[in-house]
Amino acid sequence: MIAGEVLEAPATLAWSAARRAEVDEALARYPIRRSAVLPVLWIAQREWGWIPPAALRLVAVTLDLPEPEVFGIATFYTMFNLKPVGRHHLQVCMTLSCSLMGSDRLFRHLERTLGIGHGETTADGRFTLRRVECLAACGGGPCMQVNFDYHENLDEAKVDALLAGLA
Ligand code: FES
Repeated sequence: MIAGEVLEAPATLAWSAARRAEVDEALARYPIRRSAVLPVLWIAQREWGWIPPAALRLVAVTLDLPEPEVFGIATFYTMFNLKPVGRHHLQVCMTLSCSLMGSDRLFRHLERTLGIGHGETTADGRFTLRRVECLAACGGGPCMQVNFDYHENLDEAKVDALLAGLA
């Protein structure tokens, strides 16, 4: 699935044959079934673009875990999207190194420019904006992840150019 492509959330979901094979491969890597929860959640997100409630249930059933436990894990990690995200998912690091280098100012600039706040998506579905914790690029703060790409040493002008390139 393409980043930002949003599918409807049906009441129940099932693994496709290809994803089921990936799930089985993930399960085979761990001695305990529950230990595969992160890779299996990741497979679900790749399949549906986000993790709708029915996918959480499917992961729970697949791993023999209580659904609230899977929900707790999925909500702990910001890499899992429990709501549909825009085509360009902007994740701004707000942790200390990036914060000292101006990530708060940068985030406010993005809010003003896009007209959305944390966790929101523009009406045209192009951009979702989120604050996240350390992206492990601390030497290049302020840092922002756009889908799977990192952009470092950002300022307002660089962000404006980046957004224009994504338009
Ligand atoms: S503090 Fe921003 S990437 Fe680590």
